[in-house]
Amino acid sequence: MYNSKIAGLGAYVPENIVTNDDLAKLMDTNDAWIQERTGIEERRHIKKGDGNTTAKMGVKAAQIAIERAGLSKDDIDMIVFATLSPDYYFPGCGVQVQHLMDMKTIPALDVRNQCSGFVYALATADQFIKTGMYKNVLVIGSENHSGGLDFTTRGRSVSVIFGDGAGAAVLTREEDTSKGILSSHLHSQGEHALELCLQGPSTEHWVPQIIEENPQENIPYYPYMNGQFVFKNAVGRFSEVIMEGLAKNKLSPDDIDMLIPHQANLRIAQFVQRKFNLSDDQVYNNIQKYGNTTAASIPIALTEAWENGKVKEGDTVVLAAFGSGFTWASSIIKW
Ligand code: UT7
Repeated sequence: MYNSKIAGLGAYVPENIVTNDDLAKLMDTNDAWIQERTGIEERRHIKKGDGNTTAKMGVKAAQIAIERAGLSKDDIDMIVFATLSPDYYFPGCGVQVQHLMDMKTIPALDVRNQCSGFVYALATADQFIKTGMYKNVLVIGSENHSGGLDFTTRGRSVSVIFGDGAGAAVLTREEDTSKGILSSHLHSQGEHALELCLQGPSTEHWVPQIIEENPQENIPYYPYMNGQFVFKNAVGRFSEVIMEGLAKNKLSPDDIDMLIPHQANLRIAQFVQRKFNLSDDQVYNNIQKYGNTTAASIPIALTEAWENGKVKEGDTVVLAAFGSGFTWASSIIKW
């Protein structure tokens, strides 16, 4: 058995910055509400014609991660791509990355676990490396939210939160099993699937049916979120899954050098920080700049933290996420 370690990280966000004031021109919202309730100051949106898609942003992040790992695209044995906003209903973005990067006919797998997608994807890649089946696995989280949000007042409680972007990690074999990903902890609770979802277009909500029913009030092809219910579940599950990971490795919150929480809401991250009595230096947040980028949020934050020297060799790094599904997950890493 091997361990896997993160050998390279990369991130890409579209250039187009959308401020809270920009959104206030489209809907009844304001900078003070958004900052107070979420911590978000601005986010990035793909601009028509800038050439970005979920897969293409993923490629840009992946190229940086592969280069930083000191590898070439031909060294990659597998692609695991996490997104809730794929370019196509099918096939997934993983195969597009294989094609766009002109890679060998390596396997490509898409993970559909929304905000915890990256941690699930990392855990999946880790298993392939642990067993010895593959040596280098490219893990990508990427989202094009702006293409599918309701930018009228009707959609304001969701559309002000989400932003576009991508992050990637190259996982590689680590022979020293006291290093790298020490453990992953994955959960789901499908009874709450409809509390945070986008129901259509899908086989249950097919486009002709949507048009026929013409639902003005309840449009299933925009995301729906029961914000307060999700919030309450998030704070509980974040704490649980972090504790589960620490306990498994006989660690305590004091041992955390860096916690990278999924960037769902600054208030959720602050709640978790207070609960575990962590200092500002032990938690990395960048939701202020990017909003919630779902499967991309952890790899973008982890890349930034690493670039800023906040994640160093020997550090205990904790990744934790909660979101639609509900699904939640954590990863305990010895850097
Ligand atoms: O990443 C996946 C997991 N996601 C999460 O964990 C998100 C969890 N939930 C949240 O972050 C928060 O629930 C939200 C940020 C979505 C909402 O914050 P809230 O403090 O729960 O606000 P609320 O939904 O209770 O809405 C309060 C008021 C309402 O008005 P009334 O009924 O009090 O008159 C909303 O209509 O704020 C209104 N509102 C807005 N006002 C201005 C909702 N959205 C907006 C908006 N601008 N964008």
